[in-house]
Amino acid sequence: MTRKRVAILISGRGSNMSALIEAAEAPDYPAEIVGVFSNRAAAPGLAIAASHGIATAVLAQSRFPSRDMFEDVMTQTLESWDVDIVCLAGFMRILGVDFVNHWAGRMINIHPSLLPLYKGLNTHALALADGATTHGCTVHFVTPGLDEGVLILQAQVPVLPGDTPEILADRVLVQEHRIYPEALRLLASGQISVSS
Ligand code: GAR
Repeated sequence: MTRKRVAILISGRGSNMSALIEAAEAPDYPAEIVGVFSNRAAAPGLAIAASHGIATAVLAQSRFPSRDMFEDVMTQTLESWDVDIVCLAGFMRILGVDFVNHWAGRMINIHPSLLPLYKGLNTHALALADGATTHGCTVHFVTPGLDEGVLILQAQVPVLPGDTPEILADRVLVQEHRIYPEALRLLASGQISVSS
């Protein structure tokens, strides 16, 4: 089995990144994590990745005159790792069309809602404000429209009396950690694909 080479893009805590790293430590997992990239030097996930012996890179977009130049260097970094698949895991930047198209069909994202509901930020608060009785998370292919690509896997959780956005987020996060490694397994093993 040739394992697909995967880079993970993070901006913060990196708990989904950790779930992917741990899944990929199984010998029969069809992907290996070869690098973790962050747009924030303070992202706690960087130290976790390094503790697993995974290469890390940090680039702040503010150091570049334009988003396109930042994303060109980001692609160069990913290509220096010979990456097949890119996983966004709490990477809190909207990506430009050229970058997204370069990785079309090879880049996936985890989003904390049942897409197409609640694209963007503050998904848990929005679900509560709507009086939703179920909420959840989605892994999807990344396309230029925000949180709009083809869905790969979703998981639902109940919304319970007394939930706050934080309590609900924690319940969803357990499911994120379950479905993201499963979705990457499907893509890396060739069981799913999209054509443009
Ligand atoms: C996760 O809940 C992820 O779904 C969300 O950010 C959190 C990152 O946590 N992503 C988005 O909202 C993307 N639009 P983590 O750093 O612990 O994985």
